[in-house]
Amino acid sequence: MSLPDQYGVFGNPIQHSKSPIIHALFAEQTGQNLDYRKYLAPLNGFAQSIHQFAESGGLGANVTVPFKIEAFQLADVLSERARMAGAVNTLSFREGKIVGDNTDGAGLVRDIVLNARCPIAGCRVLLLGAGGAARGAILPLLEQNPVRLDIANRTKQKAEDLINLAKREISGGAPIPMQALSWEQLNGNYDVVINATSASLHGDLPPISASIFADRCLAYDMMYGDQVTPFNQFATLAGAQIRDGLGMLVEQAAEAFWIWRGIRPETLKVINALRPRVG
Ligand code: ATR
Repeated sequence: MSLPDQYGVFGNPIQHSKSPIIHALFAEQTGQNLDYRKYLAPLNGFAQSIHQFAESGGLGANVTVPFKIEAFQLADVLSERARMAGAVNTLSFREGKIVGDNTDGAGLVRDIVLNARCPIAGCRVLLLGAGGAARGAILPLLEQNPVRLDIANRTKQKAEDLINLAKREISGGAPIPMQALSWEQLNGNYDVVINATSASLHGDLPPISASIFADRCLAYDMMYGDQVTPFNQFATLAGAQIRDGLGMLVEQAAEAFWIWRGIRPETLKVINALRPRVG
């Protein structure tokens, strides 16, 4: 058998990355001969690490905290969704060029629509947060044709900036209503509420009221862990269905696998295999 094709994930820290397990499960499931490892890139040596990896025969790399913006700057070619996200999490090395993509938003949407079986089309969607995670989600969410997409953030101006960016980026078609809101202005209710703030990371909850969750609403926290996040605890008490970001993690990896190998692995099996190990 020939040597396996080389892939990897670059970050700092990288110790806890689940990407090698996920890609090993994808490779096993699809019979692909590849080797996927984690690489600790020095904080001031990301570009050098990537160049070395590509020159030594690496075919593709995932990029995680804190290098997604540097990866965006490093890429010679960018996908539309990477441009809109302003960040890159997937690199492919093709004919001497570095091609940058961002699969995070597509991973989120696939997890909501295919795994949680909650349509976004025709729904009122609320995105909480206006940082990097929220930015990457906007274009893939809009592509699903929600009836509205509002963004609420602690710093309202950042939500306004994201909406203006999205409006500039989208061309053609009927415009989907979008509104920037401060926490105080948040008073409608929504069919899908996505927590893209980093509040859960610090054990915090954005100051939301239970009335934002419509009947049979899906509440989605992009974070995950061995404990239910404060946002998902709150949403459960408010009667919403909840989902955490483990499915998004697996789906963004599957989207990268698709870019590199042209095969879609079965993600539900992998999400279920990882669930007991989360934490
Ligand atoms: P990420 O890449 O994870 O999105 P980020 O770009 O630093 O990280 O953005 C963090 C987001 O979480 C921001 O929307 C931030 O709000 P501000 O723009 O007002 O800073 C939001 N955030 C962080 N901690 C929060 C908290 N405790 N409550 C509410 N929002 C919070």
